[in-house]
Amino acid sequence: MNLIYYPNKILKIKTKKVEAFDKNLSNIIKEMKELMVKNNGVGLAANQVDLDLSLFIAKPKDKFYIFINPEIMLAEEEEIKEEGCLSIPNKWGLVKRYKKIKIQYQDIKGKKRTLKASGLLAHIIQHEIDHLSGILFIDKAIEIYNLKND
Ligand code: CO
Repeated sequence: MNLIYYPNKILKIKTKKVEAFDKNLSNIIKEMKELMVKNNGVGLAANQVDLDLSLFIAKPKDKFYIFINPEIMLAEEEEIKEEGCLSIPNKWGLVKRYKKIKIQYQDIKGKKRTLKASGLLAHIIQHEIDHLSGILFIDKAIEIYNLKND
């Protein structure tokens, strides 16, 4: 499993619904988690590792989250946030996001769940759900800037 970088086409697809909640799925998630942690990421979507699946993981701080077939149900209070992406190294942007969201998703066993999120987790979830629809932060950023490498 490797990270996929912009402008790879898989980053522009609308990912397919996960149907099989099996050993293969848990292996995929385990590998994604290792890759995300190794790269100091706080979120990673399946199409960023070349998999056409509607799932992402998140680790805003210590807690690790898995979201399968996620959908945003409610979103409230817009704000402008600074963000980057493991698939677009050395770029940052300012993006309009919601402060509070409610999502529905399935867990690793396929059980339907809902979650209310705010703060960093809400921000990550919106970025990752965009990935699963083929949307990158550079597509909606109101400003993009480059990190300087000296
Ligand atoms: Co990203």
